[in-house]
Amino acid sequence: MAEKILIFDTTLRDGEQTPGATLNVEQKLLIAQQLARLGVDIIEAGFPFSSPGDFAAVQEIARVVGTASGPIICGLARATKQDISTCAEALKPAHRPRIHTFIATSDIHLEHKLKKSRADILQIVPEMVAYARSLVDDVEFSPEDAGRSDPEFLYQVLEAAIAAGATTVNIPDTVGYITPAEFGALIKGIKDNVPNIDRAVISVHGHDDLGMAVANFLEAVKNGARQLECTINGIGERAGNAALEELVMALHVRRQYFNPFLGRSPDSEIPLTNINLKEIYKTSRLVANLTGINVQPNKAIVGSNAFAHESGIHQDGVLKHKRTYEIMDAESIGLTSNQIVLGKLSGRNAFNTRLKELGFHLTEQELNRAFVRFKDLADKKREISDWDLAAIVNDEMQQLPEAFKLEHIQVSCGDHALPTATVTILTPEGQELTDAAVGTGPVDAVYKAINRVVDIPNQLIEFSVQSVTAGIDALGEVTIRIKHESGVYAGHAANTDIIVASARAYMHALNRLYFALTKEEIALPAS
Ligand code: KIV
Ligand code: ZN
Repeated sequence: MAEKILIFDTTLRDGEQTPGATLNVEQKLLIAQQLARLGVDIIEAGFPFSSPGDFAAVQEIARVVGTASGPIICGLARATKQDISTCAEALKPAHRPRIHTFIATSDIHLEHKLKKSRADILQIVPEMVAYARSLVDDVEFSPEDAGRSDPEFLYQVLEAAIAAGATTVNIPDTVGYITPAEFGALIKGIKDNVPNIDRAVISVHGHDDLGMAVANFLEAVKNGARQLECTINGIGERAGNAALEELVMALHVRRQYFNPFLGRSPDSEIPLTNINLKEIYKTSRLVANLTGINVQPNKAIVGSNAFAHESGIHQDGVLKHKRTYEIMDAESIGLTSNQIVLGKLSGRNAFNTRLKELGFHLTEQELNRAFVRFKDLADKKREISDWDLAAIVNDEMQQLPEAFKLEHIQVSCGDHALPTATVTILTPEGQELTDAAVGTGPVDAVYKAINRVVDIPNQLIEFSVQSVTAGIDALGEVTIRIKHESGVYAGHAANTDIIVASARAYMHALNRLYFALTKEEIALPAS
């Protein structure tokens, strides 16, 4: 069998460390199910010791997605017995569990963060890897900040980890500092200098602080890396992680260039990864909607402009021959033409069938809710496209249990009127409260009215509206982020009325904030 590049998705662990991207267990499960359809080899589902919520999410994903035919389910653990045993416990339901344990190896981390010596690390690593191996067969070890570690010390640590049973050794560029040539040389150095390296898969992990993460990984592949740790849409700490869709499409589109590095002939058509390319776009949308982290329009592969040709010269060229300006087809990542599929008279069966064709598998309850939304939309919008369906379903599936529930909203505005909003909200105590406010515009008025009822001080730091399709009757998707001293919280909603969508997005973020304040969780971030 031809060697492949393994795709290790860490959207639910490192990706979730994006400020404001917190996901609940149900949302994580939805993403994990979609990642399985996408064909990732390993899902890093979370950091079980960090919070009861993370533990529950890893356990649920292990149970539902970690089936015999499903991907490997991995959990992160610091190199301590408590972290590792909690991780193993959460992973128990998975058919193929993996513990990913890490400890820093750079001098700057040893001296200032861990207050440990190199000798301490050389003692801890084999002990903890062996402990993890006593609990599961598949153990990954990461020397955190490997990119800034002394290579000679790194070789010793990796050798000890492999001797103790690590089956994958992951090389993280934790702070996004390294350049492609340096990363390639580091991987080559590891291959040449770690005597037992043939007993482990070499993996890479990297952040995009200098915009080089994807280029670094591709250079690492050329030098022997066979597992890539990445996230959907490149979300993650600070500037994010290497983007899965960019890596996979680079390896696909430029396969003739990469094939020889895997010992294949340049013309080999055997895919370099196990990714089902057609699921890329849908996965990107799901992650953007559930995390509230929008994709910038010019983002490679999944940005809304990634396949758009604006200049007349380009349009003319593409019409004459597609490949003049297009190196890949939009259809290859699952972007269908904006087909009109359903309308007002379509029944529940047709609706469900189309959703299944689009890859959405809803429970009876979710289907009922989504169908009500569909009918409501069909009353307002004559033609309903695949994009609209995806927006409705994503919107419905990401509904949190609501502590505060928006019951009614009414707004009056105009060029000679004072924008005024009235809202009725059901509180967690079951009280129905109505209040009103004026604002500089209708959205401002709505947010002020909501604030009079839901009294949790916060600052709106991001507000964006995107149209799902073209046309005056299009659904509008609103994404917002609010800041509170406890963190940043995202909200998202779709509606043909953008004021209603704005209000619902704000309620979504406020409910997240409310639950974060009322639930006690141990914050234990790792980059
Ligand atoms: O960036 C990093 O070093 C990490 C490790 C935990 C792998 O995320
Ligand atoms: Zn990381």
